[in-house]
Order: sequence, then C-alpha cells, then structure tokens
Amino acid sequence: MLAIIGGSGMTQLSCLEISRREVIRTPYGEPSGPLTFGKINHHDIVFLARHGLGHTIPPHAVNYRANLWALHSLKPTRVIAVASVGGIRADLTPGRVVVPDQIIDYTYSRKFTYFEDKEKPVTHIDFTLPYCMVTRGILLDAAKQANEEVIDGGVYGATQGPRLETAAEINRLEGDGVDMVGMTGMPETALARELGLHYATIAVVANYAAGRGTNVYAIPLKEIYVVLEQAMVGVRNILQHLVNCNGD
Ligand code: HPA
Repeated sequence: MLAIIGGSGMTQLSCLEISRREVIRTPYGEPSGPLTFGKINHHDIVFLARHGLGHTIPPHAVNYRANLWALHSLKPTRVIAVASVGGIRADLTPGRVVVPDQIIDYTYSRKFTYFEDKEKPVTHIDFTLPYCMVTRGILLDAAKQANEEVIDGGVYGATQGPRLETAAEINRLEGDGVDMVGMTGMPETALARELGLHYATIAVVANYAAGRGTNVYAIPLKEIYVVLEQAMVGVRNILQHLVNCNGD
C-alpha cells in the first residue's frame, strides 16, 4: 500500500476512491486526522492530510511523530509527501513542481525524534541522503509517464513558520545553498528515516520567496492558493501514474 501525505493545496485527494476513514491512536498522540483508505487505479492507498481535513493545523503544531507512526503501523511500501514551497532558485518559479534531494533544518521547538528514551541506548540515524532515492526515482519516472514537467533535485530549507520569511532571511538561506523554502519538511523527513520508511517529497512552488521575483515588497497570499490549486492537478496526475509503478 502506498501512503500519501497531503499538504497545503491537497487536503483531499480527489482521484481517490474512498472506502473508509479510520482514527488511529499512537503512543505520540493523535495524527492530524483520520487516515483515509481507498484506491487509485485499483491500487491500495492511504492518505493523510498533514494540516487536518479542514486545513486547521499550522506547520509548527502538526503532530509529525503521530502522523508518521500511524502510517508506519500500516507498513506502507512508500510514503509520498506533497508539500508547497516558496521558490528561491531562479528556475523555481510559481507553479513549478520539484523533487528535492537535500534538506536543511531551521525549525525549533518541535518534537523531532522517536529516540529520546533515557533508558535506551543512544541511537543515531544516517541522514546523508535524506530522501529515499528509489522513491525519488519512482516519482520522476511517474512524472515522465504522466507528461508532467518536474525539476529533479534541490535543497529544501525547513523554516519554523507560521509567518513567512523576511527578504534578508531568504538571502541568508540562499547563501546556505537553499533552493526552496517550506515549513513542514522537518522533522517529517527525519522521523520517516528513523522509522525506516521509503519517503520522498514532491513540492509545488506556490510563490516566489520573500524579496524574490515579483515579491520584492510582499508575498500576495491570496495568489498562493490559486497557484497551488492549478499545480496540484499535475501532482495528482503524477500520483495516478505512480501507483502503477509502486509495485503493489
Ligand atoms: N516560505 C515558507 N513556506 C512556504 C512558502 C514560503 O515562501 N510558500 C509556501 N510554503
């Protein structure tokens, strides 16, 4: 079964034939909402809306540990995380879709690990390549089959939110090598690795980052949702092709 985490612009997966919803409790509390089970092209899917079904949970308040734990309990073949980002690199313009290959964490005060039990031996994870490279490849192949243009690679900078960044912060992130900025990539990506999940992200550029492109003085927030809605049509098309190569 393939697991899909939907972000802003994808609180529901319209191509999913829903069979049931299930509330799952975890040792870390409740996930963002019930898990939605169903099929795409006859393949089993479980879907979770990261911000809740009504898009009410801000990025810093998402219970990432419960979300990933709940999905992990179902032993999914892969986890595809859909995210929205602000574009910093010149080619990451609004509406573009990108599969990042690296991440830098700027978040704070979030529950970011499962390995905090003082009674247990210290545990480290390898995080050199933060995303599952096989899952990234499957995403890129599916995009090709779906005839959707996708940018292969980029550094995702995970910021705390919920406010957007200042122009100076974006300059600093760019100096760090960040290509796109979002608020939910961490700790989600690291927790997925701690659980051994085959996890990759597909990101939609919702806006030019602060101070970039046409957003020299402000980011027009209303336009973000229009861009996201349009670009998610392409993402859904990719996901519909991806289920055929997921191997279920
Ligand atoms: N910054 C942070 N997160 C975002 C942005 C942004 O500009 N756009 C969409 N998510």
